[in-house]
Amino acid sequence: MTARKLDGVATAAAIRSELLPRIDAFKAAAGRVPALHILLVGDDPASQVYVRNKEKAGRDTGLTVVIHRLAATASRDEVLAQVRELNDDPGCDGILVQSPLPHALGKTVEQLVFDSIDPAKDVDCFHPENVGKLVQGRAVLAPCTPSGVIELLQRQQVPLAGQRAVVIGRSEIVGKPMALLLLQRDATVTVCHSKTADLAARAREADVLVAAIGRPAFVTRDFVKPGATVVDVGINPLKTREAVVSIFGAESARVTTFDTKGSAMVGDVHPEVAEVAGALTPVPGGVGPLTIAMLLRNTLVAAEARQGRP
Ligand code: GUN
Repeated sequence: MTARKLDGVATAAAIRSELLPRIDAFKAAAGRVPALHILLVGDDPASQVYVRNKEKAGRDTGLTVVIHRLAATASRDEVLAQVRELNDDPGCDGILVQSPLPHALGKTVEQLVFDSIDPAKDVDCFHPENVGKLVQGRAVLAPCTPSGVIELLQRQQVPLAGQRAVVIGRSEIVGKPMALLLLQRDATVTVCHSKTADLAARAREADVLVAAIGRPAFVTRDFVKPGATVVDVGINPLKTREAVVSIFGAESARVTTFDTKGSAMVGDVHPEVAEVAGALTPVPGGVGPLTIAMLLRNTLVAAEARQGRP
């Protein structure tokens, strides 16, 4: 079997084009364009790329996107002061603080910073008030990656109600909210993690398997029930040619990519899974573009919800 490709690029383009008339309507009513503000602290190379992609997608869709940069040496107080300023700015609709924050700021800083974002502008849905609403099934803003996965599955007619869904990974950003959103669509959900006994056997029970662990090519064919839908949330850089060859094979185009660019990506799912799965998201071009599309949608939703409020 060769798995059907679940095309995140096309689905993200469809979601973004659906935003255009709503952005126009907001502009007509509010006299301005919805504005996303992104705070980037430090110089993590992957974060620079992610933020650039968000900025481009936002501007291409007609939103205002403002990037605020702070040096890696910034203090907690400086980061918190920047967030406060954005909370108080009536022209700012969405605030995204790019994760990870520099290690030098300490282990607890992310929670402190995310907790300080105005929940009405929390387009990541990381604030505990928004997470609580998500748990209760009444979220206005839902987390971008998991809600992008749901949009993709629904638009590609992958059934969820009554199906067995297995999520590998229990992060606050993806694994936990992914499980909640699948549950809200009436899937029977299992969350697996690094301490799960016989992980491959649990995963093999899935009709819909979501891999969000951040380990290159971790999910091999023995994790997958034949015909299952597999969603690969991982984006892992491979730093050596040997690693690329051992995962993709010497003849793969990914080796050429590595030879020209000096790096190549692999998801959390091994490419051999395409021979077993019924449907599979590619990396790149699967979940990544959807995360960005949902961020833009959340910015518009936040702007619409705030409109007319004091
Ligand atoms: N870093 C990687 N993914 C994300 C995300 O979805 N939101 C934020 N704020 N940072 C990230």
